[in-house]
Amino acid sequence: MKRITDYKGDDGHDHNNNNESSTFRYLCTIKELSPGKSRQFFLKKDKGTKKIQIAVFNVNGRFYCISNKCQHEGGPLSKGILDEEKKVVTCPWHGWKYSIIDGKAPHKGGDSVDCYETKVVEDKIYVNPIPTNIGMRITEPHKRYSDLQKSVREYLNHMEKDSRLQLSKDTEKSTRILGISTTNSNDEVAPRKSTSEEALRYALDYSKNEFGAETTMIKLRDLHFKHCEGYYSKNASACIFPCSISEMDKDDQMIEIYQKVILWADVVIISTPIRWGNASSLYYQMVQRMNCVQNQSITHDSYLIRDKVAAFIITGGQDNVQHVAGELMTFWSQLGFLFGKFPFVGWTRGWYAEDTENNFDKMKDNEHMQQDIIKTINGAVEMSRLVKENRYDERVLEHVHS
Ligand code: FES
Repeated sequence: MKRITDYKGDDGHDHNNNNESSTFRYLCTIKELSPGKSRQFFLKKDKGTKKIQIAVFNVNGRFYCISNKCQHEGGPLSKGILDEEKKVVTCPWHGWKYSIIDGKAPHKGGDSVDCYETKVVEDKIYVNPIPTNIGMRITEPHKRYSDLQKSVREYLNHMEKDSRLQLSKDTEKSTRILGISTTNSNDEVAPRKSTSEEALRYALDYSKNEFGAETTMIKLRDLHFKHCEGYYSKNASACIFPCSISEMDKDDQMIEIYQKVILWADVVIISTPIRWGNASSLYYQMVQRMNCVQNQSITHDSYLIRDKVAAFIITGGQDNVQHVAGELMTFWSQLGFLFGKFPFVGWTRGWYAEDTENNFDKMKDNEHMQQDIIKTINGAVEMSRLVKENRYDERVLEHVHS
């Protein structure tokens, strides 16, 4: 296996010259594409302005050409990993594979890309821009993935059109509050009450009783989902929504988080314990997988979080509430969430409280804590009602200026 290195930038040649014949187009000299390397070129299609992107590979002096755009999400195949022996290139974004001989997947039922004929005349490489094999997308994402994709698209369309929502008498009742408990406490193996989860339960019960809110709690530890694999670091466009891990793993339950956070909830309340001064490890596992939600604003100028409010419950035996609150608020604000008054509530017993077995009992009837939770929930519901009525996003600006 050899890492393909691409030549920098465009090559500067006019690939639309037609020196050799009426069909083949000149690419470069063979010296400019040494063995084991690959390179991308742009060719004009016919006489129109449309350009095709091709990837040309040199394997031991023989030249192969396929489309440079992966059939999956358009990853640059000229920057992929080339197996020279098998003549297969692996897309650098999410690992789709293609034969560089014919553009087909090396396994049955896989996707394929366009493939082109090359020839060398007097040390010059030419390619015929009429494909010898037309690439096809055959694979379909699994149903839960495509359903989420479709629902989010419909939701965004609806949000674009609706500049103002009418508040009905039932507005309070229709406030949907999602609690996400991020504690790792495995109470099935060894029962142990979680302070942060109990506080979240208190918050949800209060919301239901006081405001008639519809509430639901997701316990992250009950979901099966992988950690982020860092596609964003390969290229911002490789970090797709919904996350490609959910696409590849049909059992991935981050889909439930995406669905509830983007489509269902008006208010999201996150509860976390403090672990060595930070939020729980499950919390980080979840939010790293939500990079794709935030990234949509960068790659597609699309905001998936519309008029939603977040609030936080942070508990710990020792300290660091403010640090954790800062981290949580930073991330959720970057997703596009709004905050009401008193957006976080936190509680610790101090640095010397090593009797952690008493954390739960000391918290559960703690009136200060309960009053703080109530203030935070009131602030979140209040803000949710305000934004539902007025639309806090760019629509409000349009409204003001029109
Ligand atoms: S595998 Fe090529 S873009 Fe995803």
